[in-house]
Amino acid sequence: MMAPTRLCFVCLGNICRSPMAEGVFKHLAAEAGLAAAFQVESAGLGHWHVGQPPDGRATHVAALHGVSLAGRARQFRPRDFDRFDLVLALDSEVHDELHSLAPAAEARRKIHYLRAFDPQAGRSRDVPDPYYGDLDDFERAYAMIERACRGLLERLSADGAAPGAPADP
Ligand code: 4NP
Repeated sequence: MMAPTRLCFVCLGNICRSPMAEGVFKHLAAEAGLAAAFQVESAGLGHWHVGQPPDGRATHVAALHGVSLAGRARQFRPRDFDRFDLVLALDSEVHDELHSLAPAAEARRKIHYLRAFDPQAGRSRDVPDPYYGDLDDFERAYAMIERACRGLLERLSADGAAPGAPADP
């Protein structure tokens, strides 16, 4: 059997957007019978929330959609580029910072915008940070994340979930 494709979703705090993306992707993969094909984690660029569970609003909104969130916040480290095949940025600030953390071209090729896989994203690449917003902002973020995760899963399934970065659409 092929080695699982290793994915890491990355936002700023690892308590709102990237834990939702991790939970949604795992849920969709399991639903498609593909749980064993992926190893899925999330991380944040900041250290502020390390060790904390996901934000209660993220957990609440995900639960409304039948998705449970797990894990504790941790900080993304440059050596994580070796541990993952794809590193998915939740917004452009994160994308740019990941690029500056990447030690080499091989690592940079692993970085993609999650919303590159959202068929409704248009030119937008950001899942706006809902941390200082309200539940509606979390719902909006969740909807973008769900569409993008569906698109990503479709793309990776079409590729046979082979390691290696798919080209951005
Ligand atoms: P996240 O949201 O990046 O989606 O987890 C944030 C959480 C906390 C902070 C920023 C964004 N913060 O500045 O503490």
